[in-house]
Amino acid sequence: MNQLKVAILGSGNIGTDLLIKVTRSPYLQCNVFIGRNLASPGIMKARSLNVQTSADGIAYIVQHPACCEIVFDATSATAHQEHAPILKTLNKFVIDLTPAKIGILCVPVVNITDCLKQMNINMITCGGQAAVPIAHALAMTHHEIDYIETISNIASRSAGRATRLNIDEYIHTTEAALKSFTGAKITKAILNLNPAQPCIHMQTTVFAKVKNPQIEKLRHAVGAIAEQIQRYVPGYAIIVPPMIENDRIVVMVRVKGLGDYLPEYAGNLDIINCAALALAEAYAKTKLHPPQKEKAHEICFAQ
Ligand SMILES: NC(=O)c1ccc[n+]([C@@H]2O[C@H](COP(=O)([O-])OP(=O)(O)OC[C@H]3O[C@@H](n4cnc5c(N)ncnc54)[C@H](OP(=O)(O)O)[C@@H]3O)[C@@H](O)[C@H]2O)c1
Repeated sequence: MNQLKVAILGSGNIGTDLLIKVTRSPYLQCNVFIGRNLASPGIMKARSLNVQTSADGIAYIVQHPACCEIVFDATSATAHQEHAPILKTLNKFVIDLTPAKIGILCVPVVNITDCLKQMNINMITCGGQAAVPIAHALAMTHHEIDYIETISNIASRSAGRATRLNIDEYIHTTEAALKSFTGAKITKAILNLNPAQPCIHMQTTVFAKVKNPQIEKLRHAVGAIAEQIQRYVPGYAIIVPPMIENDRIVVMVRVKGLGDYLPEYAGNLDIINCAALALAEAYAKTKLHPPQKEKAHEICFAQ
């Protein structure tokens, strides 16, 4: 089967986990894995997988524009500000895994069809990928949402330097996504990096305040959307279904990773990388088989 060529920019935790996932894709071929340091563990991993590597950053794509049709940016929000206009000029389909918030905000289970019409797509954050579907289910079952708060706990070991540099961007982008997907009046996002050993699994709690909570309807909606997410993020599990506690709605999610680069505790890598992969594969299918009339979300989530 034909495969679409992709480049991954950023050789840290997110980039390397994504690389391993892309190597399993029937629709994508990682043609080049790009960082800044040929001795980094990510570049070594790529070499061990016989993937071409470069330490030239975005300059590699500028000098070899035919190297890829899709670019995953797994560097940092500041670096993506610089990369975005260059990649636009080169007409690349850009999937941004940093919280730079330049392109359309994407949660595949909610708005993949709209995202496939754009050329720069922002995957929000790991906490955003976990919480927005719950918030979306809330918005589908309630007319007015006063407040949504999400707290994500991730293992400190899984947060690379760029993640730590991007904490402010994490908060702003996650809060903006919660607001734009639900219309909630006030949103709040918190990220805890937990240094405990053994490392903790990624866990996200969503709190919400609404008038006249419809808990049974919400349980049904959350269960249904979780099932759809599990088709592309197998380790996504609702561990506390919607309930009322102290006058607010509470829902908790745990995400177990596939253990590709870091062990399974690092569901924070999987939730955003599996979402990015689902989007990239849906785009590749439209490019490789353009006449098909299937809807994009059917292509992506069909078993
Ligand atoms: N870790 C998570 O749980 C997680 C989840 C969702 C989203 N994210 C986002 O994903 C991004 C990466 O996070 P991470 O945890 O993987 O951080 P990381 O381990 O520090 O990885 C970032 C990588 O990008 C490289 N890099 C930075 N600027 C570059 C540039 N201009 N050109 C080429 N390479 C560049 C870095 O190179 P050096 O090795 O030379 O520094 C590093 O290898 C961040 O924006 C973060 O917010 C992270």
